Amino acid sequence: MAVNVLIMGDTHGGAAGGLLPPSYWSEQLKVMQSLAYGWWLEAITEFGPWDVGLFTGDATDGEGKKGTMDTVIPDTLEQAASQEEIYAAPGIEKQNMYFVRGTPFHSSGTYNYEDPLAKALGASIENEQLVSILGLKLHLRHALGRSDTAYGQGTPLFRESIRDLVDATLSDQEPADIVIRGHVHYSCRMTIGKRTAISAPCMEYPDSVFGRTCRGMYYDMGIGKLVVRSSTDWEYHPILMPLKVVKRREYKEICSGEEFSHK
Ligand SMILES: [Fe+2]
Ligand SMILES: [Fe+2]
Repeated sequence: MAVNVLIMGDTHGGAAGGLLPPSYWSEQLKVMQSLAYGWWLEAITEFGPWDVGLFTGDATDGEGKKGTMDTVIPDTLEQAASQEEIYAAPGIEKQNMYFVRGTPFHSSGTYNYEDPLAKALGASIENEQLVSILGLKLHLRHALGRSDTAYGQGTPLFRESIRDLVDATLSDQEPADIVIRGHVHYSCRMTIGKRTAISAPCMEYPDSVFGRTCRGMYYDMGIGKLVVRSSTDWEYHPILMPLKVVKRREYKEICSGEEFSHK
């Protein structure tokens, strides 16, 4: 027997580059929106059926005060509503859906913006989730320090693993076998000894996150599939969308040299 676990998050509902179902697409953005949605729908269909959903946060985008041009749905309740179809699509039963809340900037103000989404789906939502699947202990939380050093992505992930280990030890409890995080929008996995830490890919287009200011070193859109057979027999597959489809590198030919008088 195997349990198929869907790891998905950072869909940023309401952001220009976020994942939205067709009824929320705008005339201006629908080519881009349909591309991500189409790829994602195919992926969850092809790699399913799914038994458990672990949703890593940033399901809503928030008020967008930092970058208002990137927010296409300003109403946070509507942002949550837009995500109902997205998180229901994998067909997971509500008692097996676990959300963690995202970054406060994207998910909280006078209330927690993602809570109405979880409530509408009948799913659990917490700041962190501890679940055990066939004896495999998982610790789910949104935030993780990012690294844009080309080879530095492992360090914050190791830190999450060690932090969980110390936290469990100090309180005389058992640490998780796998810690799962979102937030960084790149897919990474580190294993040391028996302990693994995973950062899940996102489902938001890159430019809308970093805008005109900083640029992430790595960026991955996609979902994660964790197959669990027992506490010691499991495997993890990141399923990633080819970003070259949307991030084309085209050099514009700007002059031939013939037109300059000084030649
Ligand atoms: Fe995010
Ligand atoms: Fe985040």
